[in-house]
Amino acid sequence: MTTITARRFLQVAALSAAGLLLAACGKKEAPPAPAPVASAAAPAPTKVYNVGTDAAYAPFESQNEKGEIVGFDIDVVKAAAAKAGLEVKFVNTPWEGIFNALGQGDRDMIVSAVTITDERKQTMDFSTPYFDAVQLIAVKENSKISKFDDLKKLKVGVQTGTTGDEAVSKLLGKTNTNIKRFESTPLALKELESGGVDAVVADNGVVIHYVANNPTSKFKTVSDKEFVPEQYGLAVKKGNTELLGKLNKGLADIKADGTYDKIFAQYFGAPPAKAAAAPASTASK
Ligand code: ARG
Repeated sequence: MTTITARRFLQVAALSAAGLLLAACGKKEAPPAPAPVASAAAPAPTKVYNVGTDAAYAPFESQNEKGEIVGFDIDVVKAAAAKAGLEVKFVNTPWEGIFNALGQGDRDMIVSAVTITDERKQTMDFSTPYFDAVQLIAVKENSKISKFDDLKKLKVGVQTGTTGDEAVSKLLGKTNTNIKRFESTPLALKELESGGVDAVVADNGVVIHYVANNPTSKFKTVSDKEFVPEQYGLAVKKGNTELLGKLNKGLADIKADGTYDKIFAQYFGAPPAKAAAAPASTASK
C-alpha cells in the first residue's frame, strides 16, 4: 500500500517545517532533544515521601560518622514504610521549624520522638502510638536534687518547644528566666556539664542514652512520678488520611510480625513491655 493517509501527510509536513525552521536558525541551534522512548520496562515514577527528623536525639535519630541519619525511629519508619509500599527519604530538620515544615508541605511526615499531645493534635494528625516515654531529669552525680519539685528555684535546661519545656514551664512559670531553652537536647546537656544549668529535663530514652555514653560528664538521672506518661507518634499534615492509613497499617504489620520487637531489642535491649514498665528506675542511681 502506498496510500498516504492524511495523518501521515501532516506528520511529514510538520517534520519538514521543523527542518526548515532549524535550517533557518543556522548551526548555533541546539540539536533537537531525542524523542522519548516508550518502554514497557520503565517503572512508574513513585512518590518519595520526605520524612523530617531532628537528628540530634540519639538513640531515636542522630547522624553517624558518614552523615547518615540513623536510629530507632528511622528503623521503625523504614520497616513500616516497606510494609506499606512507601518510599521514604529522611531529611534532617531543626526541631524548632519541624511542624511548620509539615504544615507547609515541605515534609510529608515527621518522625522525631514526637509526643502525641492534645495541643499538637489541633494542627497535625498522628499515627497510632509506637513508643512509650516519660520525662527524666539529668543532674550532676553529686547533686542533691531528688525530685522534680527541687528544680523550682534552680536553673533548668530544656529543648525549646518540647514536652520537657512544657513540664518545666508549668513548674517554674513559662517566662521564668531560670528556664534555659536550647535548640537541641545535647546542647542543654553540654550546658549541664559546664555548670550553666543545674538540671536538664528531657525524654527518658535520650537522657539514659546520653548518661550511659558520656561517662566523663558524670551525670545521674532522677525520675519522678509527677511526669505524665507520653507516647510517640508519626505526624502527618492535618487531613492527610491517605498517608496516615498506610503508616498505621505498616506499624500494625511490623508489630504483628515481630519486626518492631526486633528493632526495639536492638536499641533498648529488652522487650517493649518490660522496658516500658520501668524505663527510668533501671537507670536511676
Ligand atoms: N518527645 C518530646 C516532644 O515531643 C521531645 C522530642 C524531641 N525530638 C527531637 N528529635 N529533638 O516534645
